[in-house]
Amino acid sequence: MEPLQVIRTNQPKNKPNEGELGFGKYFSDHMFVADYTSERGWQNARIVPYGPISLEPSAMVLHYGQEVFEGMKAYRGMNGEIHLFRPEKNIQRMNMSCDRLGIPQVEPQWMLEAICKLVETDSDWIPQQVENSLYIRPFIIATEPCLGVRAAKEYQLLIITSPVGAYYSSGLAPVSIYVEDQYVRAVRGGTGAAKTSINYASSIKAQEEAKRQGYSQVLWLDGVEQRYIEEVGSMNVFFKVDGEVITPELNGSILPGVTRDSVIAMLRHWGIPVTERKITVEELFEAQQQGKWEEAFGTGTAAVISPIGAMKWGEQSIQINQGQIGEVSGRLYDAITGIQQGRIDDPLHWRYRIG
Ligand SMILES: Cc1ncc(COP(=O)(O)O)c(C=O)c1O
Repeated sequence: MEPLQVIRTNQPKNKPNEGELGFGKYFSDHMFVADYTSERGWQNARIVPYGPISLEPSAMVLHYGQEVFEGMKAYRGMNGEIHLFRPEKNIQRMNMSCDRLGIPQVEPQWMLEAICKLVETDSDWIPQQVENSLYIRPFIIATEPCLGVRAAKEYQLLIITSPVGAYYSSGLAPVSIYVEDQYVRAVRGGTGAAKTSINYASSIKAQEEAKRQGYSQVLWLDGVEQRYIEEVGSMNVFFKVDGEVITPELNGSILPGVTRDSVIAMLRHWGIPVTERKITVEELFEAQQQGKWEEAFGTGTAAVISPIGAMKWGEQSIQINQGQIGEVSGRLYDAITGIQQGRIDDPLHWRYRIG
């Protein structure tokens, strides 16, 4: 692989105020780009000033949606050091998504070096405040100009970064969710386990309807029987029922979240039982009636842990744990954010130091 070229901007942008970052609104000064052709493979890797890209109107991604992406963060530790959180997991998942979408995979070490070099180039964009971070968005698009449904022969890999604020600006707060029983996110044999834009495009209508009704996320059911719980919005989901933590098993239509994997590992590290299995909404509502449903929370890179305080299913609306943050949810949030932010020990060796 040829060496990575770095072309620095001569017009650095003004940085946003750290108190007003929000999520995904600002983009740093540089981006990583590499091209793929079926003859030459991935080549021409470069870091260039962030800016518009040029695509032919016939680029296949615009018509047939051949795209995959990832989402991860870079953190500034207590002594100014920079680290990532389990980056190999995101790269592995990106290659799995590529495989499902017929997109050429990337060499994991090359991809990791690209991410690290980009983060180092824009290190002054990593927020200083411990709860803020630099979100990293790698993505691959089919750029070949052709109208025809087949795997493209040309692609571009881009990585952009965005300084982001804490998901909960005023501290961890429980959300209300709505069980979606009309639309589905993914079906058996489909693309649900891949991180590809097409899954998100098809989820937007349900998400907007949930918001219109005052709920922040939808709880997705399986696309075959519409009985089994899959995910919540763009997070995986966990429940604590009668002392046991449970989460839907990975069945090919659920995204295998890095945070989900980390939560399972952390709970096991603490000696708290956790089971991956099929879970129905009926069983949770029954447990609620028996006073056994103790907690619910979503897991994902953006929010890390998102306690669920209320749920609506058809005509039934209930509160979970009196709408309060559960003990396990709070403990996991503190532990995982503590490791990510470099504030506490890293017993499972998840931090990856850059530089
Ligand atoms: C549909 C979906 N499920 C789950 C997750 C959580 O995955 P991770 O923990 O890797 O961010 C995400 C976010 O990436 C997502 O978009």
